[in-house]
Amino acid sequence: MPSLKTTITGIGLQNPLMLASGILDENGYTMKNILECGAAAVVTKSIGREERTGYRPPIVAEVPDGLLNAVGLSNPGIDNFGNEVGIALQAGKPVIGSIFGGTADDFLYVGKKMEEYGANALELNLSCPHVLGVGSEVGSDPELVEEIIGELKNKIEIPVWAKLSPNVTNILEIANAASKADAFVVINTVRGMAIDIYARRPVLSNAYGGLSGRAIKNVGIRYVYQLYKETGKPIIGVGGIEAYEDAIEYLMAGASALEIGTGVYSKGKGIFSEINSGISSFMESEGIASIKELVGAAVQ
Ligand SMILES: Cc1cc2nc3c(=O)[nH]c(=O)nc-3n(C[C@H](O)[C@H](O)[C@H](O)COP(=O)(O)O)c2cc1C
Repeated sequence: MPSLKTTITGIGLQNPLMLASGILDENGYTMKNILECGAAAVVTKSIGREERTGYRPPIVAEVPDGLLNAVGLSNPGIDNFGNEVGIALQAGKPVIGSIFGGTADDFLYVGKKMEEYGANALELNLSCPHVLGVGSEVGSDPELVEEIIGELKNKIEIPVWAKLSPNVTNILEIANAASKADAFVVINTVRGMAIDIYARRPVLSNAYGGLSGRAIKNVGIRYVYQLYKETGKPIIGVGGIEAYEDAIEYLMAGASALEIGTGVYSKGKGIFSEINSGISSFMESEGIASIKELVGAAVQ
């Protein structure tokens, strides 16, 4: 039997699949349940310094081959999140704390608390496409990205992952500014919108949102390939993974681990075990013994 084990920034994973930030991960019990359903790790909902209610509905819309969302980074605030991390950790698998903020000081405050709560790594949301002053506004400012990551790397022990946005002109400029991060996570959602033609207005209350799901898979693969080739950094691939073939494409493009978000909506919680068994059968039939052999296998 081939081994699905992989390692990312020193964190051992039973298989390459993790839950992406924003899907069933604001609550400790739902995270624990996803881990029991075969995910190797979970990434929490992005948590900030203070509680945020987010936008009024509609905040999510189904579109062909994906979802459009503008949730508005609703979250309970870091001071109220320790219990949820503790419950998720009961599954005995890694929990990655996703955090956001507007300044290096915000990131440090929230990151320190996540570390104290027992998170195994931090994932910095430098890429949410629809909230002013945080997310991709921070992530498209190279000086600020460098300052945030420098500060965290000096003062935090656990690995720091930088989640980058596809909504920039030159992703390499931001990746270079984030070069002290231990890994890159690519991609967050792609900016988009939908119109209700009978109501003659945007579908989402915020008008603009982020597109996820199969519609963005090939955008994600391209960024993983480019960053693997140009930076050599460990990469976590995310965007439109819904079948084992998608997962293998991402691995061959250079990802060492993967995250699934929208696929949990479209396929249910069984998606983790289904994709893992598909990867395993593929490896067996192709004579591949370990995930390592797949990582970057298609990069020229
Ligand atoms: C409803 C929803 C909420 C999300 N919330 C977050 C979030 O809080 N932080 C974050 O970094 N990414 C968030 N994302 C982006 C996902 O983590 C992921 O990067 C993106 O959806 C692409 O992966 P997918 O096609 O597998 O969903 C969210 C996505 C969706 C659909």
